[in-house]
Amino acid sequence: MPFRSGDASWPLKLESRISFGCDYNPEQWPENMQAEDMRLMKEAGINIVSLGIFSWSELEPREGQWNFSWLDNIMDRLHRNGIAVDLGTATASPPPWLTAKYPEILPVTADGVQAMPGARQHWRPTSPIYQEYALRVVTQLATRYSAHPALAAWHVNNELGAHNVHDYSHDADVHFRDWLRDKYGSIDVLNSAWYTSFWSQRYSSFEEINSPRKTLAPQVNPTQQLDFSRFCSDALQECLEAEISVLRDVTPHVPITTNFMVMDEEKWMNYKEWARSVDFVSNDHYKVEGELARDEQSFSSALTSSLVGGSPWFLMEHSTSAINWRTVNSPKRSGEQLQDALTHLAHGADGICYFQWRQSRGGSEKFHSAIVPPGGEDSFRFRETMEVGSTLSQLSFIAGSRRRSGKVAVVFDWESWWAVEQDSHPSQLLDYRHTVLSWWRSFSEAGFQVDLVGPGQSFDDHDVVIAPMWHLMTDEQVATLTSYLESGGKMVFSYFSGIVDENDHLPEAPYPGRLSHLLPWRTEEFLPLPPGDAGVLDNGWKYQAWAERLTLLSEKNDSSVEVMAHYSDSPLEGLPAVVRHNVGHSGGELIYVSAQLDGGSQRELATEISRLWNIAPELPVHLRGKVEVVQRVDHYGTLYTFLINKTDLPVGVEPFLPGFSRHGLCRDPELPPYGVELFIKHSKVHATT
Ligand code: GLA
Repeated sequence: MPFRSGDASWPLKLESRISFGCDYNPEQWPENMQAEDMRLMKEAGINIVSLGIFSWSELEPREGQWNFSWLDNIMDRLHRNGIAVDLGTATASPPPWLTAKYPEILPVTADGVQAMPGARQHWRPTSPIYQEYALRVVTQLATRYSAHPALAAWHVNNELGAHNVHDYSHDADVHFRDWLRDKYGSIDVLNSAWYTSFWSQRYSSFEEINSPRKTLAPQVNPTQQLDFSRFCSDALQECLEAEISVLRDVTPHVPITTNFMVMDEEKWMNYKEWARSVDFVSNDHYKVEGELARDEQSFSSALTSSLVGGSPWFLMEHSTSAINWRTVNSPKRSGEQLQDALTHLAHGADGICYFQWRQSRGGSEKFHSAIVPPGGEDSFRFRETMEVGSTLSQLSFIAGSRRRSGKVAVVFDWESWWAVEQDSHPSQLLDYRHTVLSWWRSFSEAGFQVDLVGPGQSFDDHDVVIAPMWHLMTDEQVATLTSYLESGGKMVFSYFSGIVDENDHLPEAPYPGRLSHLLPWRTEEFLPLPPGDAGVLDNGWKYQAWAERLTLLSEKNDSSVEVMAHYSDSPLEGLPAVVRHNVGHSGGELIYVSAQLDGGSQRELATEISRLWNIAPELPVHLRGKVEVVQRVDHYGTLYTFLINKTDLPVGVEPFLPGFSRHGLCRDPELPPYGVELFIKHSKVHATT
């Protein structure tokens, strides 16, 4: 792989600056506006644009007829104006002539309906015809712009998997069967992995297997569903890699990315795997509404950072203000744009970009905010963007530094997400991402910088690892976490963790079977609660949605087990709810939390854990619950500590952080509501260079 995020050769680092940019769609506008665009881009501080993302029908208006002149002109113009290009491969939205000629590239929904063109992403990830035509465009673009001085990076497709991740077409069936053949080798192995002795589902050949289309009984074989999720993520990753392979052949000197969607609800792409395919990771993030918004934003950024082990990454899209695809779309407050940008930056982003430059005049995004609103430059929104640009231009010294690991890590696992939320479970109310986010938030509010880690990653950098609903555990993962605990690690598991193996089977052991070798208790039954019901523990902690009947195993019942809280209401009254246990002889410990605690109780538990295990929070008491802390570190060892006010009230942050000097992102000594401030501690090495 020629480039990695954080390498000196990485484009975002080339000029030691924070990249600041946007999607630029000049094909929607008369050419004579481009001079004005350049003037305004420079005024706003834009130094990179993503170009041509949805331009296939402009580039190839008829099959085999190419029209590059408009793109040549704008590439040249951008270069003359010192603006780099992240060039789209234009493959996200096939032109009408292609779908008219080959309707068989259109995806098919689970109930057998062929999706129609007229919007975007109307292509099957497994269509050989789509792929042939898409790779032709990629080859044309790569060949033509290989030596263009504006070309800084390739932007493959766009948000791969948005809309078309699940396709149930004939192509999908064929490829799914091949994928299964590769995985299982023989149909007998598949029959056993899929537990097809249940409901007479035994297959005699791979040819009999289909993608899990709509059935009359709603419960499709769960392992088939899980494998289909894995297959769909892999099929899109193959599309990504097919484009990458063309680009690497023709332009080995140009780094490649594609914009991930590490944000709420985007569950189907296993980005931990995808991150291995690209030269640098980019993410799109659109904020959720409501009181979780700011934590969700930090959480998504921390998760993106975890995909690259803390190296810098690129925020490819976020909005200047209102989006247009929720029921109600509110604009951002004054100052919110800057706070959002700085939050992503704090979590490791070296590029801060928006969708999009000019608000479209027509099309379905005409009410989506942009940098240049219909009123033009003399507008509140353009001025807010200029402020972001000017602030980022003064933070170029941050570029290339890495997000530093904190003491606390929370496990995030795409496969557990898929498995936990399958049908036919004790409760359909468990929400994997929100559960992981709620644990992340509890420890953040307890004063820690909280990282995310993948289930296969080493936990050694962290003092405590939290595993919320780590439901599906492979043998290898069980071995890794066991040796982490036995060598002195500290872990917290929530309810419904360690339940199934990689085939979504219950092991031959009491719940939680994948952890039973570590636990001197077992879960006898799950007690999901209906919406609105709540319960209480004997220390006052409240819970909802989930409880478990735990039984301590008498033969193993020894002083190494401590019940930290009991249920205090029927039918579990007096039974253990939160249990702590020593593992091995090197100081390893685990805590098992059998109920879904509410936010306040979970935060108290986080504080209790930090006290019990003597893990000092990074924040002093008066800032906990109000301010988030996150650090970056450069290769000299200089530390950049960001404090993010999560509240709508000013917060006094000093005196704090001895040895750090305040950079002055905020004018007042106090952190203003939602404000972000940077504190810097130069390393001795840096001071002398
Ligand atoms: C996505 C797409 C963009 C645009 C934005 C609007 O992230 O990548 O093309 O549609 O959403 O929010």
